[in-house]
Amino acid sequence: MEIVDFAALAPARHADAARILRGALAHVPSAYNGHGEAEAEVALRCGDDDWLGYAALEGGGLVGWIGAIRTYSHGWEIHPLVVAPDQHYRCIGSALMAALEARARSEGVLTLFLGSDDDYGGTTLFGRDLGPDVVGNIATIQMTGRRHPLTFYRRHGYEVVGLLPDVNGAGRPDIMLAKRLTTSRSSA
Ligand SMILES: CC(C)(COP(=O)(O)OP(=O)(O)OC[C@H]1O[C@@H](n2cnc3c(N)ncnc32)[C@H](O)[C@@H]1OP(=O)(O)O)[C@@H](O)C(=O)NCCC(=O)NCCS
Repeated sequence: MEIVDFAALAPARHADAARILRGALAHVPSAYNGHGEAEAEVALRCGDDDWLGYAALEGGGLVGWIGAIRTYSHGWEIHPLVVAPDQHYRCIGSALMAALEARARSEGVLTLFLGSDDDYGGTTLFGRDLGPDVVGNIATIQMTGRRHPLTFYRRHGYEVVGLLPDVNGAGRPDIMLAKRLTTSRSSA
């Protein structure tokens, strides 16, 4: 497997990136299922100077990609991270994450963060009224076995730092995750 800068991909590969985005998130109702939505998302990211990404290639074909938006002076939002469904559990996602974290560190980023929706029942937060103690509900999160990537992110050092209740509809929260790339405050 080879990890390359997304910007170095031939434009013809962008259709493959869109296909992977759609396929990897096919179980998520809010994600790129409409006609042309995934293609529009790839075009949007490629035209955004504040976005950067990496692609995983195997046998000359695209098998996954990751991106990040330069949101804060020292904080980037990961968006998106997708691996082709028939290539999961082969460490491709981990390799993409490692490339992005290395780039972030090299540019002085201190925190990476992301939102990971649960609008399909991947965790026990789905379908619940999370108020009024929204933050208190973080401690109750359990996996349901329905392919939510929370376990993947936790294995990579990301922790749940917040919940956005109902942002995908009643009982359909976004789970906010973050990872500090340094535990030292010496560079602050
Ligand atoms: C999340 C995702 C990118 C992981 O990619 P991957 O290439 O399968 O991940 P890896 O093979 O590097 O897996 C690393 C570890 O995470 C675990 N893991 C991988 N996918 C997982 C999933 N969907 N749920 C739970 N754990 C998962 C693996 O078991 C592995 O654990 P191990 O190292 O202890 O064996 C991939 O499952 C995916 O594209 N999912 C759909 C899209 C998605 O949810 N993206 C994130 C949106 S916020």
